[in-house]
Amino acid sequence: MSIPGPIDPPARLLMGPGPISAYPSVLTAMSAPLVGQYDPFMTATMTETQELYRGVWSTRNDATLLVDGTSRAGIEAAMVSLIRPGDRVLVPVFGRFGHLLAEIAERAMAEVHTIETAWGQVFPASVIEEAIVRVKPTLLALVQGDTSTTMLQPLEDIGAICARHGVLFYSDATASLGGNAFEADAWGLDAATAGLQKCLGGPSGSAPITLSERAVEVIRSRAKIEAGIREEGDPDSADFVRSNYFDLGMILDYWGPRRLNHHTEATSMLYGARECARVLMLEGRDAVIERHRVAGAAMLAGVEGLGLVVFGDIAHKMSNVVAVEIPSGVPGDEARTAMLDDFGIEIGTSFGPLHGKVWRIGTMGYNARKDAVLTTLAALETVLRRFGAAVPVGGGVDAAADVYRGA
Ligand SMILES: Cc1ncc(COP(=O)(O)O)c(C=O)c1O
Repeated sequence: MSIPGPIDPPARLLMGPGPISAYPSVLTAMSAPLVGQYDPFMTATMTETQELYRGVWSTRNDATLLVDGTSRAGIEAAMVSLIRPGDRVLVPVFGRFGHLLAEIAERAMAEVHTIETAWGQVFPASVIEEAIVRVKPTLLALVQGDTSTTMLQPLEDIGAICARHGVLFYSDATASLGGNAFEADAWGLDAATAGLQKCLGGPSGSAPITLSERAVEVIRSRAKIEAGIREEGDPDSADFVRSNYFDLGMILDYWGPRRLNHHTEATSMLYGARECARVLMLEGRDAVIERHRVAGAAMLAGVEGLGLVVFGDIAHKMSNVVAVEIPSGVPGDEARTAMLDDFGIEIGTSFGPLHGKVWRIGTMGYNARKDAVLTTLAALETVLRRFGAAVPVGGGVDAAADVYRGA
């Protein structure tokens, strides 16, 4: 057996749809020494992290915490804990991640109903309300920003619609949280989940989640505590959540005052998640959203300045990622490889119908920065020209720099 050397990744500027380069202070936080699971420092750090994420989500929800695992762990925990087998769930699908919500709801044994719109579009609130009236779901599961298409579904009016019809409202904000407005309380969310690897500027592996009192009531009504730690009088519902790891009732008991043992909290991920929220709240939620808006506007102007055609309804694009059609004659994957090999810059393609048709370029978290935007556009110009595309000299960098000058 030949033993490899210590880990030594190449220098990369991650300008794809996520993961992105983490804030340096997040990586530093993650290398801090470990403490025991019930060390007062550990439990205090958990409590601090909850309060920081209340700021990130814009909520007073007591049940604001982390699920250990990637964003999908947060989604699965929310769904499996809120959906009883046979419940009707409505999923409006406007990209790959809507399909993912429908698939997870199906695995949670829901009766799943979907409505679909073309990739590159979002739903008017009235269309969602019509479907709610027709389907009468117990839960609406709606992606906020679908990374596969870059579209941002407006959520402002959906909570009131759900409240009118007695429907729980869940949103997957993995790709959008921190880079676009998200108002969990003001918009009437019952549950929302995210990940760190997009606008929050960390690695994947921790899923922030927030739950309204109504959502907690549903979860509590299904409470079952493991034998071995269950005490006299503890609930033992027959209608229990069909997952142990993702049972939010038990996860809440671990994060709550009872500190009832469940999993062993992933300490280094907790440190990283705390630092993601800390840097965001230190800079200011609105300031971070504005930084993403400017970086996104600069990248949009830049790719248009290079003569590229932007995919989808630009008015509903997330600030933090843009999709552009790959110019005909340019080999999309070879060009991405050239970006990586020659410049150390990663950009992405997309999934399903968009695979090989678009590139997705992100400006998220730590990389929602002028130098990252301009460097990426300069490299893209060179690569496009190398593969035979006619591109205006300096057209990308100049257009983006103009946006920064005006901001
Ligand atoms: C909108 C959205 N939801 C869910 C996921 C799944 O996230 P993860 O890979 O962290 O589980 C992603 C990943 O890109 C995403 O963009």
